Amino acid sequence: MVITAKQEALVVSSWNEMKDDAPTFALKFFLRLFEIIPSAAKRFSFLRDSTLPLEKNPKLKAHAMSVFVMTCEAATQLRKTGRVNVGANTSVPHLASVHFKAGVADVHFEVLKFALLETIKEAVPYMWSEELKEAWSESYDHLVAAIKSEM
Ligand code: HEM
Repeated sequence: MVITAKQEALVVSSWNEMKDDAPTFALKFFLRLFEIIPSAAKRFSFLRDSTLPLEKNPKLKAHAMSVFVMTCEAATQLRKTGRVNVGANTSVPHLASVHFKAGVADVHFEVLKFALLETIKEAVPYMWSEELKEAWSESYDHLVAAIKSEM
């Protein structure tokens, strides 16, 4: 198994603590990505065409939530099947194609991971540990590796 039962439990229990405010946290880590790499926002068609402030853009929030939920769910799938499954509404090849066409690069995935972990640390400081960080990192890395392998 690529993820241990303990790692899955850490991801799921911290997600349960965060889920009521998950859209706010998800948006936060995307805004952090744009602080570090401002040009990343231009990859999104709906940000290029919008006059709304980033933090008010519902499509950005929805994308951020997809990342958060898919990373969390990857932990359970990896534990159960050893593989990432992105759900019935999409597929890994489709996600790879969308990200490839939008010009999403390794550095975007790397910085997003950093921002995600930083946000989790701020959201649940009382649960934060190296093990929790590793557990979320493993889930994210496998999800991204699956997408990148098809890009
Ligand atoms: C689109 C997930 C990371 C930029 C999407 C979509 C999903 C998704 C579900 C919608 C696909 C569709 O249109 O059917 C993920 C996941 C990620 C991730 C799970 C990481 C684990 C990133 C990163 C960037 C990014 C790091 C960097 C900027 C985009 C862009 C689109 C997109 C530009 C197309 C949006 C548009 O213009 O319509 N992503 N994403 N994604 N994602 Fe990601």
